[in-house]
Amino acid sequence: MPTPALASLPIRRLTLRDLSACADLSEDRGWPREEHKWGLLLSAGKGYGIDDPDGGLTSACVVTEYGPQEQPALGAIGMVLVAERHARQGIGRRLMRHVVSAMDSTPLTLYATPHGRPLYEELGFKVTGRAEMLRGYFLPDAGGPAVGVSTRAATAEDLPVLLRLDEEVFGTDRTHIVTRLPAFADQLRVAEENGRIVGYAAAWPNMDTHVVGPLIARDTPTATALLASLAAHTDRPLRTDIDVRHEELLAWAKNRGLESIAFNAVMTYGITEPPGDWTRRFAPVTVAAG
Ligand SMILES: CC(C)(COP(=O)(O)OP(=O)(O)OC[C@H]1O[C@@H](n2cnc3c(N)ncnc32)[C@H](O)[C@@H]1OP(=O)(O)O)[C@@H](O)C(=O)NCCC(=O)NCCS
Repeated sequence: MPTPALASLPIRRLTLRDLSACADLSEDRGWPREEHKWGLLLSAGKGYGIDDPDGGLTSACVVTEYGPQEQPALGAIGMVLVAERHARQGIGRRLMRHVVSAMDSTPLTLYATPHGRPLYEELGFKVTGRAEMLRGYFLPDAGGPAVGVSTRAATAEDLPVLLRLDEEVFGTDRTHIVTRLPAFADQLRVAEENGRIVGYAAAWPNMDTHVVGPLIARDTPTATALLASLAAHTDRPLRTDIDVRHEELLAWAKNRGLESIAFNAVMTYGITEPPGDWTRRFAPVTVAAG
């Protein structure tokens, strides 16, 4: 049972001013600080947290809403964290219940670590898929160059096309994320065939890595061309989270130096599976935002 003091601490909305307290919380749980990612989430999504009377935050999480503002089609929950010193006292449960009820009837999705999964199951989330986290230095020559699909850096003129393609594949509007990518990511590239954009991907800086996501592509050869072209423009190790149904891409990436780090369960609430077209959706922008 939580102590009465902890149980009555108010849950409040977080803002960008809470960024370093959020990063402290990540660090407290042995996660990287990921300030750049927290910055995206706290500006594009809604943060919720509980202040620690002794300073800092006892807990935090972020919900990124997609679709019409007045009636979101989907909410993606991420960065669910409770400070180690307050663990197992019901704070995580209380924060999650609050968020689920604040989201009313909006369908929800999240990527669960093994730590978080029992709590989400208790709240009614169901496992509907899995993603494999890969990390490592990409070895471009191990299997020869990608064939057939040309890629280039995205330009401002591409944005309307990217927004349309993204909505089709993600299943709902992500304008507030996609329009932030040119500033948030170090690279934004498109794949083209006969002058038509058939995929796009970003690589954004996260601690010492570049995270590849979103990765949206017509098919596996297009996805491999995008991944290889992003890798060609960075010296950092790559990290990405690939839907396990994309076995071909996973095998291809592992043959080129990326290693399996972990699996996360995709869980949903209020829908049987995430909307959109999974066959063209290879990696989320971040597991924290779908
Ligand atoms: C997951 C996390 C948010 C849970 O927060 P918490 O406040 O400690 O959880 P609660 O006390 O509300 O517990 C809720 C339920 O979750 C489960 N749970 C929580 N911690 C657990 C643990 N260490 N081992 C097994 N089950 C656990 C239990 O079912 C628990 O219910 P119970 O205590 O009645 O048995 C917290 O452990 C955390 O920050 N972990 C590190 C970050 C992380 O993995 N976040 C999840 C991202 S998807």
